[in-house]
Amino acid sequence: MNRRQLLKSLGLLGLNAGIASNTAAFASELVKLSKTNAPLSPELAFSSSFLSIPESYEPTRVKFDRALPSDLRGTLFRNGPAKMQRGDTQYHHWFDGDGMVHSFDLHGSELVHRAKMVQTTKLIEEKSAGRFLRDGFGTHLSDALPVLKPDDLNVANISVLPLGEEVLALWEAGSAWRLDAKTLDTLGRKVFSPETDGVSFSAHPRMDPDGHLWNFGYLSGAGKLVIYDMSATGELNRTQVIDATHTNMVHDFAVTERFIVFVLMPITFEGRHDVSFADMLGWDEDGSVEILLVDKATLNVQHRFELPPFFAFHFGNAWEDGKQLRIEVATSEPWKEFNTSVKNAVAGKLPTRAEIESRDLAKAQEIILDLDTKTARSETLPFSRAEFPSFDPRFAGYRTQSLSMLTRTQDLPDAVFGFNQISRFDRKQDSVANWTYGNNFIAEEHVFVPKTGAKEGSGWLVGTAFDWENSKTTLSVFNAEAVQDGPISTCNLPYHLPLGFHGKFVKAA
Ligand SMILES: [Fe+2]
Repeated sequence: MNRRQLLKSLGLLGLNAGIASNTAAFASELVKLSKTNAPLSPELAFSSSFLSIPESYEPTRVKFDRALPSDLRGTLFRNGPAKMQRGDTQYHHWFDGDGMVHSFDLHGSELVHRAKMVQTTKLIEEKSAGRFLRDGFGTHLSDALPVLKPDDLNVANISVLPLGEEVLALWEAGSAWRLDAKTLDTLGRKVFSPETDGVSFSAHPRMDPDGHLWNFGYLSGAGKLVIYDMSATGELNRTQVIDATHTNMVHDFAVTERFIVFVLMPITFEGRHDVSFADMLGWDEDGSVEILLVDKATLNVQHRFELPPFFAFHFGNAWEDGKQLRIEVATSEPWKEFNTSVKNAVAGKLPTRAEIESRDLAKAQEIILDLDTKTARSETLPFSRAEFPSFDPRFAGYRTQSLSMLTRTQDLPDAVFGFNQISRFDRKQDSVANWTYGNNFIAEEHVFVPKTGAKEGSGWLVGTAFDWENSKTTLSVFNAEAVQDGPISTCNLPYHLPLGFHGKFVKAA
């Protein structure tokens, strides 16, 4: 299949979108507020993380309060939206902001943090123009330039894929961007092959225990997924386009020993010129979740299942268990409520009662597929108000006993958007261990870092949290097997970072 055929099959040719207008006073109001000594209102907690973000954070050395374990040496790379305002133009949705990649080098008893904006084509054009020129995922600008291809909107802001000397900044709907892993300088757009140039490369690649990499791409409205089969170092072995019913927004997937697993939700899409992309997405109440098992050997769909509708961004691990296949799912609140909640959080508005109540629907569950009877069912896992699943990556695709997630305590003020607790489920004990940051913190993803040579689930959880009352970010390290004891070491940065999405830890050689 040549590039034109691949693009055509994904519906990427002839893409166009429209124009509209926006400015915003909210950001300047927030800046004014931040300059007073008044305590920050909880509804401003989330959005205040995007205030006063520099173009880059120069290398900053900070001590941990206790020495790190000798095996925990390496670099945590993280990505997330950082630029939410440019000139008079303001983004309204968390997902819109231009991406900034951070590296946290952990050695002995100190950390070196640095961060740089990913120099995407969009960022460079808009920096020169002094304003946002194109729509964001959730923001429609009345005078936006037309979108001729997905990369026109590429903000490279979701996650990272470290590949030796480089780290890729990943978005979802377009290309990955190459960064120098040491300096975080942007090296250019990643082209895996001429055929896949500009094709969506999603933000949650999965790695088999042997280092084999898998990923996928999609385009809303196309009814197709493209599968990437890659080596550990990122060379493309094969691509395959498959048909699927629901491919309007596909954020994550999973792999098992034999299968690539897609859990596709009934998100509808209506191409329009007068609203943001997020507002073009809807929900088919009568639709089903479609689950596809793609044979890793042939890249063809081998099994299809259906489940009643639910919405989720992220999956934990998945594995085959005899004739069954299990998938851990971080079920979210429904798409519409989630989308409104994010916009309210960015705007510093109080959430509505419906949004608050919908948070209880953000549970974790396990989908169980019976490969013999072709039936699917789900069971609830003991997490609620939960997101950002993390597990031992050495056992990706194979049964794991432990699953960690961010959760939200009942006493966290409703006005605060996000999570304030680390929770870890142990299947053997059938118990959940929790540790709660104070209610003045919004916790970010905590990644699992395995202890060399130790059993599954033995290692550390490493993650950042934003102290919104004091406008500071901390990085904490937990013994994954004793989360309830609190961090074994903490490092308080002298500044705050914008609330981001995902990261990966690379152990030092
Ligand atoms: Fe994600």
